[in-house]
Amino acid sequence: MNRILSLVNKLADKHSLELSEYEELIEFRNDESAKLLRTLAVNIRHKIYGHDIYIRGLIEITNICKNDCLYCGIRKSNTNCERYRLSPDEIIACSDEGYELGFRTFVLQGGEDSFFDDNILGGIVREIKARHSDCAITLSMGERSYESYKYLRDCGADRYLLRHETADRDHYMKLHPQSMSYDNRMKCLRELRGLGYQVGCGFMVGSPFQTVKTLARDLKFIEEFKPEMCGIGPFIAHKDTPFRDYPSGTLELTCYLLSIIRLIHPPVLLPSTTALGTINPLGREKGIMSGANVVMPNLSPVSVRKKYELYDNKICTGEESAQCRECLTQRMKSIGYNVVISRGDIYTFTHEASSESASVTL
Ligand code: 5AD
Ligand code: FES
Repeated sequence: MNRILSLVNKLADKHSLELSEYEELIEFRNDESAKLLRTLAVNIRHKIYGHDIYIRGLIEITNICKNDCLYCGIRKSNTNCERYRLSPDEIIACSDEGYELGFRTFVLQGGEDSFFDDNILGGIVREIKARHSDCAITLSMGERSYESYKYLRDCGADRYLLRHETADRDHYMKLHPQSMSYDNRMKCLRELRGLGYQVGCGFMVGSPFQTVKTLARDLKFIEEFKPEMCGIGPFIAHKDTPFRDYPSGTLELTCYLLSIIRLIHPPVLLPSTTALGTINPLGREKGIMSGANVVMPNLSPVSVRKKYELYDNKICTGEESAQCRECLTQRMKSIGYNVVISRGDIYTFTHEASSESASVTL
């Protein structure tokens, strides 16, 4: 068999490749390797999660941010960004509405906004948990101290999303201001893991200065860290950022990487992202058909949606939450998948698992 297809098979067997092999797999990709990766990724996903798709209700709680990431539309230097923050009551109302719509995971995402200190954010987490005890809470609020992560975990937060953005130190420095560091990002991820959070990392596909080498490092990092969740989506330029003139990441490479990540870490919870739906009208469907198993409809109040603009032309900014939920349910149905009402925790191998599950090599 040719070299690239044997790499795909090796990955499916061993869930691991050498750094140089990941580079080859990306550099010399072709339609055949993409098709084989997709087939193997979808197969193993079906063995673990069947045709179930998990949904997460995304609540964008603030677009105020002290950071200045060069790619991001809500960076502090963007004076054209109209700032907002939701009040604790508004956030809790979004979760109530989401619960009625069948969401059992809420993702509170925002910029690094000092208003949401431990007291305020912890209070919100406690209140949502008190009202909806069968739900998981995911935080996506950036870099915080160990003590803060610990406190929020004690308040009931179950999961934390903090994309590593790139596993290459030099690349990290080109995407971020000097005040931010690769080491601190990695330290946060390790601390979150140590505190018992289910942790999500991830990166943008096609970010400026990304190379086959940096992508191979991302894959090696994922192989070693084994995140419970992994968010990847195409980079899309925002007109008011220094990266305004850079091209978007592609649907093709994003789907290729989704398949690879599924094979590296079969049980990973892998969203088909809004950014993927933004660069192609059927992007989210194609992401699922490449091995993703999560979608994250927007639960933010429509009045603020347009303001949480990380990149240009973001979709779903005009629809009510119920419309977004329904739209995604239909989209998943159209490709043979079912959105389920579930917390959607990561599959873990247990002795009670059925013999069929036990035959899955994880
Ligand atoms: N294009 C695509 N994704 C982006 N993000 C931030 N800015 C952009 C952009 N211009 C992603 C980052 C961040 C997540 C919340 O959104 O990876 O971690
Ligand atoms: Fe939001 Fe389709 S998912 S409108």
